[in-house]
This record gives sequence, C-alpha cells and structure tokens, in this order.
Amino acid sequence: MKKIFALLLTGVMMMTIGGCSKPASAPAPAADAATQTAETKPEEAKPEEAKPAEAKQLVVGYSQLGAESEWRTACTNSVKGEAETRGIDLKFSDAQQKQENQIKAIRSFIAQKVDVIGVSPVVESGWETVFKEVKDAGIPLVLVDRKADVPEDLYVCFLGSDFKEEGKRAAEEMATLLNGKGNIVELQGTVGSSAAVERLDGFKEVIEAKYPDIKIIKSQTGDFTRAKGKEVMEAFLKSDGKNIQGLYAHNDDMAIGAIQAIEEYGLKPGEDIKIVSVDAVKGAFEAMIAGKLNVTVECNPLLGPQFFDVCESIVAGQPVEKYIPSEEGIYRQETAAADLPSRQY
Ligand code: AHR
Repeated sequence: MKKIFALLLTGVMMMTIGGCSKPASAPAPAADAATQTAETKPEEAKPEEAKPAEAKQLVVGYSQLGAESEWRTACTNSVKGEAETRGIDLKFSDAQQKQENQIKAIRSFIAQKVDVIGVSPVVESGWETVFKEVKDAGIPLVLVDRKADVPEDLYVCFLGSDFKEEGKRAAEEMATLLNGKGNIVELQGTVGSSAAVERLDGFKEVIEAKYPDIKIIKSQTGDFTRAKGKEVMEAFLKSDGKNIQGLYAHNDDMAIGAIQAIEEYGLKPGEDIKIVSVDAVKGAFEAMIAGKLNVTVECNPLLGPQFFDVCESIVAGQPVEKYIPSEEGIYRQETAAADLPSRQY
C-alpha cells in the first residue's frame, strides 16, 4: 500500500511541475508567426485617432410679428422652409401683431440660450430694454424685414427692404397714372411700424416735391389687413366718393380689400380710381390681370435664405454688413399675365 501511495504522489508532483514550467508570455514558435493572418495578429498599441468634431446644430429663435397678410405668410414659409433645408433647430413664435408677445418670445429665446435671435418688429419703438437683455446674454440679434428704433450696438444687422424707396416708386407710378393731377386717398400700414412710416414718408416726399396738382386728401391705417383695408376704404368713399381719383395702399392685401369696397360703391377699381400698392403678391397679379389694380411695387418676403446666411456667418465669426437690402422691382397691369407664372409668392 505504502509503495502504491508513494508512486501516485510522485506522478501528481511531476504533472504540477510540468504545468507551471511554461512561462505565460513565451514567444510563439517562428513557424506559427509566419502563418498568422491580419485578423489573428495581436493588436499593436495605436495612438488614439482624433475623431472629426461633429458640427453643432445651429439653434435660432425667430420672433415673427404676425400673419396679417399674404406677404407675411410667404415670409414665414420662407424662414421655416430654409431652416428645414439647412437642418437648423428653429424656435418660431408668431406674435399676432402684439409687441408684448414678441417681447415674451425674445425672453424665452434668451432662457433657451439660442445661438442667434431674429426679430421682425411689429412697431419701431419700445425695444431697447429687451434688446439690452439679449446683448447682456451674449446672443447676437438680427432685425428681419422691419427696423427698430434702438442704438446700433443692440443688433448685428438689419436685412429687408428699403421702405422709403418703395414709397417713392409708388408716388412716381401714381403720378404717371393720374397724369400729374388728382386727389388721392392713402391706406397706411400698422401705425408705428417702419414699413408704414417710411412708405408714407417716401410717397409724400415725391408728391410734395414734384407734383403740386396731386393732393393726398385722406390717410388712415388699415393695419395691413384686407378686412381693415375694405372698412377704411368704405369710409373714404362715404366722405369723398367721386372726388377720389387715386388710392395708394401700403400693401396689396389692403388694396384687395379696398377693391371690393370700390366695386360695392359702384365704381370701377383700376379705372375710375387708379390703384398703386406694395408687395407684389400673387393676389395683386390676379387683380391686375382682372384690370382692377394698376401697379404693385415689389417688397420681397423671401428672406429665409439671407437670414440664415447671416446667422451662419455670425456664428462662424465672419463679418456681416450692417444693412443687407432685398432686391425688388415694379410690376404693372400690362405685363401681369406674363409675370404671374414665375411669381414665387
Ligand atoms: O413689413 C412688410 C409689410 O408687412 C408688408 O408690406 C405687408 O404686407 C406686411 O404685413
């Protein structure tokens, strides 16, 4: 028994010693290394490769003043469509023509720490406090379409139309239609908006300086809407009726509302009363083709691409012009049918 036990013990010890004798890191035999494939080769320690930094998505807050006209709808669609095309995270707010709603929206953009804020101010005054808050938060601000009466350091740039020039163009067109003589009524845009103030100034300036036989006999706001345009034109017709030879409307929507009022009154718009308006929306071309509107001076609402170009430049630290004007033309009844198919809004 003793002999058997001694033999077994020796065997176990030899197995144990043999198992421990091969070092764990022993190099593989040369023949093995030559037959290894790329996949089976042990990984060489490589330095960490620098991954390309992912471009941060641009976050833009845009305070639109409302949805009062065909023009405004085209402007909103242009901004929203362009944001989608470029993959921009757009925080959009419609203020329904109320400044207090715009101020609330701007404060919420500050709280959300957006990269850039765009504002189309419903009126010119009353922005300084909130624009200072934007500046203090370090957020660049861009004025789109309408101006604000604030010091220049509170915004990066203004992009939009030259409203005064539009007013001057409208005056020249009206003078031609009236052969330099007649009574005009005026439908103004929203009181205190840069579009209304400047379109009024430009028109008046040209008429007073060059056409002494043209008189602006009535001027009142129609708030840039069809309904108000019609309502105010009804009042003009009631007080001055056949004494009116021309209507200057600060936008097409008000002109279209007024056309209805003129027809209901029993006169022919475009003939008995010559009409010049601003915007050049499709509805104006249809009215011109029907012979009811004479001229529309273009105001371009397709501001989305320009706006986001500016936002991207600002964020990239590139210089931006203080005023970026829109390109605009004048459209008359005679060419309206040919022009309409190519209109985008
Ligand atoms: O500020 C641009 C003006 O606003 C457009 O002429 C008018 O239609 C809009 O409501």
